Amino acid sequence: MTTIPKLELHLHLEGAAPPGFIRTLASRKGVDLSRIFDARGAYAYRDFPDFLRVYEAACTVLTSPQDFHDLTLAVLEHSAEQGVIYTEAFLSPDFCGGGDLDAWRDYLAAIEAAAAQAETDMGITMRGCITCIRHFGPDKARAIARCAQESAGRFITGFGIAGNEAMLQPRDFAYAFDAAREAGLGLTAHAGEWGGPESVRAALRDLRVTRIGHGVRAIEDPALVDDLAENGVVLEVCPGSNIALGLYPSIAAHPIDRLRRAGVGVTVSTDDPPFFHTTMTREYQALAEHFGWDTPEFDAIARTALEAAFCDADTRAAIAQRLEAQ
Ligand code: ADE
Ligand code: ZN
Repeated sequence: MTTIPKLELHLHLEGAAPPGFIRTLASRKGVDLSRIFDARGAYAYRDFPDFLRVYEAACTVLTSPQDFHDLTLAVLEHSAEQGVIYTEAFLSPDFCGGGDLDAWRDYLAAIEAAAAQAETDMGITMRGCITCIRHFGPDKARAIARCAQESAGRFITGFGIAGNEAMLQPRDFAYAFDAAREAGLGLTAHAGEWGGPESVRAALRDLRVTRIGHGVRAIEDPALVDDLAENGVVLEVCPGSNIALGLYPSIAAHPIDRLRRAGVGVTVSTDDPPFFHTTMTREYQALAEHFGWDTPEFDAIARTALEAAFCDADTRAAIAQRLEAQ
């Protein structure tokens, strides 16, 4: 499983920070973060709102471009060990200088330098998808969209929205998404995780995204499932995340295989792997064990991910070659 070449479209850079990495920074900076870890040193949270609180607390010790450089290298090293050859990481300027454009440029330079080093040393290609955070509100999102506009190019290829889907509406973020679209960025939105089918419809209608982060609750509306399949909307599905956060009781109850069988473009990602005790290999193993996925299914999700990736044509062709070489 580990050696199957994998593409990951949904990975939050800060959410991928190993707990030990955050603990080391906290002790170096004299910050007491003991409340966010359990007795074994793993991230400890009760439910989704508490997860967001713990996540944001962990981010408080990521305070410099050097921290993000080191984080990017650590995360990409781990991904490369899982057979990931292409990863689109969600980058949040909110946690990199609070959305200030000059600060963001410094953070981005550090992240991009680490990504270039990882590509040379470990053979993993990373692209960035700038992400605003829903519960921080539309004004913050506009500032984040400006960061995205200013940095759109070969490395920054997308724009998205994460955070608490229960707050505000996609249309509140239309301005930010319009700005990102005008800058030529690919668009994705977290929806259909804590909101139902109407939340997915609203993201498609009001933000005009081509991909949906999660989107799994579309399964509750067969007409929406048909629309997704017909319109080629691709879902960034993160089964381990959905199970760890209590959306589904088990992989057996997860709708990924039903969505795939209905013709929806599904891909597989880990979201925030250390929070959910998962890896890309573990996700693949669970899909093989519970749904009998094998080479045809794994090839298909890699091809779907490659087509839906927001990278430029040269990068897509290079990744396609690596897939074919396997
Ligand atoms: N940010 C990081 N992980 C997330 C998730 N699963 N849903 C919404 N926002 C997030
Ligand atoms: Zn996510």
